[in-house]
Amino acid sequence: MKNSAQYKIKWANLFVLLIISLIAFSACNQTTSTSGDSEMDAFIDSLINQMTVEEKAGQLTLYTSGWDVTGPVLRDDYMDELRAGRAGNLFNAHTVDYATNLQRIAVEETRLGIPLLFGLDVIHGYKTTFPIPLAEASSWDMDIIEKSAHLAAKEAASAGINWTYNPMVDIARDPRWGRIAEGNGEDPYLGSLIGAAKVRGIQGMDLSDPTTILACVKHFAAYGAAQAGRDYHTVDMSDRELRQNYLPPYKAALDAGAATVMTSFNELDGVPASGSHYLMTEILRNEWGFDGFVVTDYTSINEMVPHGVVADLKEAAELAFNAGVQMDMQGGVYSQYLPELLEEGKIKESTLNEYVRQVLEMKYKLGLFDDPYRYLNKSREQETLYSQELMDHALLAAKESIVLLKNEPAGNAASNLLPLSKSTRSVALIGPLADNQKDMLGTWHVAGDETKVVTLLEGIRQTAPDVRINYARGAGFNGNDQSGFAEALAAARRSDVVIMAIGEDYTQSGEAASRSEIGLPGPQQELIEAIHALGKPVVAVVMAGRPLTINWIDENIPAVMNAWHLGTMSGKAIAETLFGDHNPGGKLTITFPKSVGQIPIYYNMKNTGRPFDANNKYTSKYLDVSNEPLYPFGYGLSYTNFEYSNLQLSSNELTMDGSITVSATIKNTGKYTGKEVVQLYIRDLVGSVTRPVKELKGYEKISLNPGESRQVTFTISAKDLEFYTRDMSYKAEPGDFKVFIGTSSAEHLEGDFTLK
Ligand code: NOJ
Repeated sequence: MKNSAQYKIKWANLFVLLIISLIAFSACNQTTSTSGDSEMDAFIDSLINQMTVEEKAGQLTLYTSGWDVTGPVLRDDYMDELRAGRAGNLFNAHTVDYATNLQRIAVEETRLGIPLLFGLDVIHGYKTTFPIPLAEASSWDMDIIEKSAHLAAKEAASAGINWTYNPMVDIARDPRWGRIAEGNGEDPYLGSLIGAAKVRGIQGMDLSDPTTILACVKHFAAYGAAQAGRDYHTVDMSDRELRQNYLPPYKAALDAGAATVMTSFNELDGVPASGSHYLMTEILRNEWGFDGFVVTDYTSINEMVPHGVVADLKEAAELAFNAGVQMDMQGGVYSQYLPELLEEGKIKESTLNEYVRQVLEMKYKLGLFDDPYRYLNKSREQETLYSQELMDHALLAAKESIVLLKNEPAGNAASNLLPLSKSTRSVALIGPLADNQKDMLGTWHVAGDETKVVTLLEGIRQTAPDVRINYARGAGFNGNDQSGFAEALAAARRSDVVIMAIGEDYTQSGEAASRSEIGLPGPQQELIEAIHALGKPVVAVVMAGRPLTINWIDENIPAVMNAWHLGTMSGKAIAETLFGDHNPGGKLTITFPKSVGQIPIYYNMKNTGRPFDANNKYTSKYLDVSNEPLYPFGYGLSYTNFEYSNLQLSSNELTMDGSITVSATIKNTGKYTGKEVVQLYIRDLVGSVTRPVKELKGYEKISLNPGESRQVTFTISAKDLEFYTRDMSYKAEPGDFKVFIGTSSAEHLEGDFTLK
């Protein structure tokens, strides 16, 4: 292996040679640089000038290296492709030992020695696993979210990765869709803040810092709106809906500087995203000015054949290329067909050069031409993996992600069941997630080591060492095997309190993991009903990658905590919360339905012409279930209570270029110090097009001691009231508005103002 000094000399020599041809080349070169960095531009121009068409196609090609894949591995000969310069980028190749050899081949054995990008789905952690994104969104804490993204990037960067397929910012309103776990929920405002925070965390201020890596905003676009929640399914929506609710988080992540974008598997308005000129060029490049590169989601160019918009792979390559897709992930069609398409005049050389430039620019900005081994430092890897900094943050993020859904007294008790006392004599810990490491990691735990996970059983032992724990698994996640019930019932009978650790395993959400029924899977419902029948105080700790329809639990169990899949420190975070070392303050960013039949159900819905009226049959409702969700967007309890009062507006009139403030007083009326996410919503009462019944426009997360109160003030200007009007211009319209400040989208104070 050459060391980095030798490598620099190699490039210095090459650069001198190439610079001579640069002057001639630049005269006929039709590529346009977007970087404004003349040294980089000259270097890349020179390089492009030396490349064969096959090598150019190679830079636009990404293959999996065979660790972990989400589709067919099409090429097991990728090493030959790599040596031939026909594979310029790899994913799923990580750890310093493994990736160093591959980089060495690219640098030393290919004709031009161009270093590889190494991509990986570092979605919620590399080794140290943070909460799944939908969980972490419940923290509403951008500092925590940004830091998780930064630490995950730093840990992955130490193991050879320089590109992550994160953030996933697909708005989703359908919890049947398994990938809802990977996103941030249903709201475009919050989704935009989170997308931007993740990009800041992943890329930092300077890509040449080897603790930062390239981000990839995905899946562009509107993948979360797959019909019936079935993965990879059709998406069809109006342009207004697309722009109003689905595009903002992608745009926000790009405005935060995201270097790359991933296409989505779905079609939109009849055109698969990977072949959509509208998405990849008109919106992304022309409207938004994106100057990084676009990679397909896996074999989505190839999938345009079964989509039925092209007859064969060659046509698919042409469609994707001319739509504005720079890099082909895993499909191998660019490598195979771009030379031919160029020869036949079906694609332009200037476009090919421009695409190659966009990829090489990222390699340059990462500093890979300076030192291709800068992400491959064994001692840095050893120091970084599972470092104390990472583990401490994993615990903090896990605790802040927990959402308390219900907390009432058990039976005739005087106080709420939670938090449990550490002097409780005995607890029964029952359920398939009670002593379970792997499933706590959740979906997309690419490299997370389950042996490092703190289970709930272990977490309780550490947090409440004097409590006797009677553990029984009780049931599994599939089928209907009830043979473990007897042991579980016996454990419950011997105990003062029962903690049920129930929910989904890690395969039951995520990609290709849609469910048509979203109750507790397997015999867990029967198990909790049998335990409840004993009459003991029961706490339900629900761990899942999606909202579950836990209506029976909500009606019958006095304390319910939604603990998602919280990652490496799951058990400790949950135990500290159960026993009161931590007061939960998370708020849902996704509506929990009562029934699958209500889906899609989301807080920022429209009013309809016949809004619900219990006394009028002919209004918008169901015969068999209410319109209300089980738990609304923004909902989450605390061990303490917060009282909202005194909504005040600085004025009831807002001018187009002015601002008003709206404030409310929040008082902690309970016994515990606690955090509250104070939420601001508005409603535009009359618009040139119909407007949602509520839209989140701001929030503040505050901490109050018992008895303490605080006035929280938000500023509103016309900018906050903009939307896509009837003629599709984005602006605010004069008229009357309602404004709400509250503890959730369903419980709030209310005021009015007029935009003049
Ligand atoms: C398919 C998934 O849809 C995408 O999110 C992921 O980044 C790629 N596979 C690469 O693993």
